[in-house]
Amino acid sequence: MAGDATLPRKAALDLMGEVTEGKRLLSEVAPKRLARLTPPDRARAQRLVTTALRVMDRSDRALGPHLRKRPPPRILNILRLAVAEICELGEASHGVVNSAVTLARADKKTAGMAGLVNAVLRQVDPEGWPALPIPRLPKWLRKPLTDDFGKVAVAAMETAHYHAAPLDLSVKHDAGAVAQALGGSVTPTGSVRLADYGQVSTLPGFEAGEWWVQDAAAALPAMALAPAHGARVLDLCAAPGGKTLQLAAMGADVTALDISRTRMERVEENLARCGMSADLVVADALEYDAPPFDAILLDAPCSATGTIRRHPDLPQAKDGSDFPGLFELQAHLIDRALGLLKPGGRLVYCTCSLLIDEGEEQVRDALGRHPALALDLSALALPGVDPGWIGPEGLRLRPDYWAEIGGMDGFFIAAMVKA
Ligand SMILES: C[S@@+](CC[C@H](N)C(=O)[O-])C[C@H]1O[C@@H](n2cnc3c(N)ncnc32)[C@H](O)[C@@H]1O
Repeated sequence: MAGDATLPRKAALDLMGEVTEGKRLLSEVAPKRLARLTPPDRARAQRLVTTALRVMDRSDRALGPHLRKRPPPRILNILRLAVAEICELGEASHGVVNSAVTLARADKKTAGMAGLVNAVLRQVDPEGWPALPIPRLPKWLRKPLTDDFGKVAVAAMETAHYHAAPLDLSVKHDAGAVAQALGGSVTPTGSVRLADYGQVSTLPGFEAGEWWVQDAAAALPAMALAPAHGARVLDLCAAPGGKTLQLAAMGADVTALDISRTRMERVEENLARCGMSADLVVADALEYDAPPFDAILLDAPCSATGTIRRHPDLPQAKDGSDFPGLFELQAHLIDRALGLLKPGGRLVYCTCSLLIDEGEEQVRDALGRHPALALDLSALALPGVDPGWIGPEGLRLRPDYWAEIGGMDGFFIAAMVKA
């Protein structure tokens, strides 16, 4: 049995295996795996596993010269975690190596390779770490991104993925006052940005519902929809509710719909905390019917490849094979949204994706299917948005934009009007 000091490392190792071998996302497995740890151990395990996944490509390069052949997955993950701790997090090598050896010994199947773990880790040189290339995306994702954006852009995105994301807040009333109270800054588009933060729920203004967590890029679709005060607005894939809150704060009469009851509970909690309201509907958007709305925001389920800065497990857990099903669903959701929209009404379609299949191509296809649909590019000319980010189909946001102030999530946002 591993000793207590090894508990967070053991949890991080198990999670690494769930991602690299089980092909599960951390969001699916971490809550259960970490439930028994104390809050500090849980935070440490989370930090370890996300760091190890974020730098995994670089760790593999650091380990390569010291391994004659690829070791079994659990041993490889023990090595990757230890390299990340020593080289990226700057932990004292002695303690990390001892712990890695303990982890190898703790399992009958890996005990025989504890010596190898010790020998390999003693050869890894933290001094050489910064000279290794920035961690690369796996081929299945690198290839389509390179085809669409080019090598230079993809390298810039990889650099952005390597740097951890700041915490962005959408604010109900006064972003300047919240930024001052929390020691943050205001982004050009009006979100509050914190470089350093502890537990979010203990930050001033959380209990009072003055703000909610939402990446600056994710705050732009609701701004592009810009509903009039009192307008009937449908937030079609609403949970956990970042955009519902924005629309409600703008004074719209919001109906928030999501297929997931559990995720909808988060919308309910967030609305209650922020003292706002919306009609909540748990339903499949494809089967939902209601009198037509003045405006609709469709934040469709997608590959989430725009959020890799925050979710470094995604490139390792996914291989893109389940994405075509999402592309098809997105097209159906656009069609359904148009059926629920009043003539003259605005539809904002968005995805937190870097893939043009989920952005530009969806819009091109939708315009082909619906002759009465027109682009409304002027809605995307928002304060703080660089006009160069607006393409023929809509606003393309990339993680390497705003590199000097901490980046942003990848997103695609289109605004369209139904004739
Ligand atoms: C990108 S997330 C939405 C994020 C949300 N708009 C926000 O700002 O917090 C996509 C959502 O679509 C929901 N979803 C997936 N398929 C759906 C469907 N057929 N009908 C309704 N909601 C669906 C998922 O449960 C998920 O909550």
